[in-house]
Amino acid sequence: MLAERPEGKPTEKTFRLEKATLPAVKDGELLVRGVYYSVDPYMRGRMSDRKSYAQPFKLDAPIEGSVVAEVLESKTNEIRKGDLVTGRMPWRREMIVPAAGVKKIDASFISPSAYLGLLGMTGLTAYVGMIVIGKPKAGETVVVSGAAGAVGSVAGQIAKLSGCRVIGIAGSDEKIDLLKKDFGFDEGINYKTEKDIKAAIAKLCADGVDIYFDNVGGAVSDAVLFNLNFHARVPLCGQISGYNDTDPGQGPRLGPILLTRSVLMQGFIVGNYQQYFAEGISKLTQWVKEGKLKNQETIVNGFENLPSAFLALFEGGNTGKMVVKA
Ligand SMILES: NC(=O)c1ccc[n+]([C@@H]2O[C@H](COP(=O)([O-])OP(=O)(O)OC[C@H]3O[C@@H](n4cnc5c(N)ncnc54)[C@H](OP(=O)(O)O)[C@@H]3O)[C@@H](O)[C@H]2O)c1
Repeated sequence: MLAERPEGKPTEKTFRLEKATLPAVKDGELLVRGVYYSVDPYMRGRMSDRKSYAQPFKLDAPIEGSVVAEVLESKTNEIRKGDLVTGRMPWRREMIVPAAGVKKIDASFISPSAYLGLLGMTGLTAYVGMIVIGKPKAGETVVVSGAAGAVGSVAGQIAKLSGCRVIGIAGSDEKIDLLKKDFGFDEGINYKTEKDIKAAIAKLCADGVDIYFDNVGGAVSDAVLFNLNFHARVPLCGQISGYNDTDPGQGPRLGPILLTRSVLMQGFIVGNYQQYFAEGISKLTQWVKEGKLKNQETIVNGFENLPSAFLALFEGGNTGKMVVKA
C-alpha cells in the first residue's frame, strides 16, 4: 500500500506490505489471484495529492493498477473458475473484484501479460498518439523518445508500418541496438552519451522531423523540437523526465518555433479516446498475428518486488513493458 506521499523521487519507504483478511465473495463478485501486475509511470502522479486527470491514490490503502488475474471463485455465470481476467485491481496477492469491472482475455496467441502492455493501455496509447494524433504519412520522418519503453517501442513500430523513417531516442547502447535490430527503427540516439542531441537529430534527419512522439519532455524534447518541419505534429504523450521534479525549471523558449512552423502539439490522455479502442485493439492484434508487431516485456518476479519494479522505470530498468509476475 501507499505509505507516504513522496516529495521528489519515491523510494522503497513509499510502499508498505501488510496482511489483510478478505470477506466472503458476494453475488456478482469474483475472488481472483493476481498473476501479472502492471507498473506504470503515471502512478507517480497519483502518489501526489494534487489536482490531475486521475484521483490521487489513498494514503495507507492499496495502490491499484492494471492486473491480469486468475479466477479462484466466481459468483457470476459469465466468468468461471480458472478463467484469466484483466482490469483495474488493487495491489493484493488475492482480491475480491466486481465481475462487471473485469474482462476475460484470450491468451491463445500471446502471453497473458500482453494485455497489460501491447494489447492493453500502453499499446492503445501508442496507437492513439501515433495514428489519431500524429497522422503519419509514408515517407515522413518520425522521432520517438522513450523509444525502448512500452509505449515508445510500439509507437515506433506503428510509424514503420505506416511507411515512415523512424529515429528512436533511448538511454543505453543496448536499447539502441534493440530498436534497430528487433523493432526495425532506422536510427537511434543514446541521450545519456550523446553530447549534442539537437545536432545529432539534425544530422540523422536531414529533411527535418515531421512527427515527434514525446514520451519524456525536458532537454531531450527541446533538442528535437528545434528540428521540426513546417506542419509537424507532436503527440505529447508523457513527460517522465520531470515526474520527480519539485521545481520544473526553465527550458529554451520554443514558442517561436511552434508558431512560425505551424506545428500542432497536442497533449492527450488515452482514456479520453475510448472511441478508438476497438479499432486500436483490432489493428494491434492483427499486426501481432501477422508477425508485423513485436511484443517486448521486462518481467520482474515476485509480488513483493512491485515497488522496485516501479522505481526502476525512472532509471531505465526496462525494455518494453515493465510487468511484475506474482
Ligand atoms: N498520455 C497517456 O495517456 C499515457 C499513457 C501511458 C503512458 N504515458 C506516458 O508515456 C511515457 C512512457 O510510458 P511507458 O509506460 O511506455 O513507460 P516506459 O517507457 O516503458 O518506461 C519508462 C522509461 O522512461 C525512460 N526514462 C526514465 N527517466 C527518464 C528521463 N529522466 N529522461 C528520459 N527518459 C527517461 C526510461 O528509459 P531510458 O533507458 O530510455 O531512459 C524508462 O525505461 C511516460 O511518460 C508515461 O507517463 C502516457
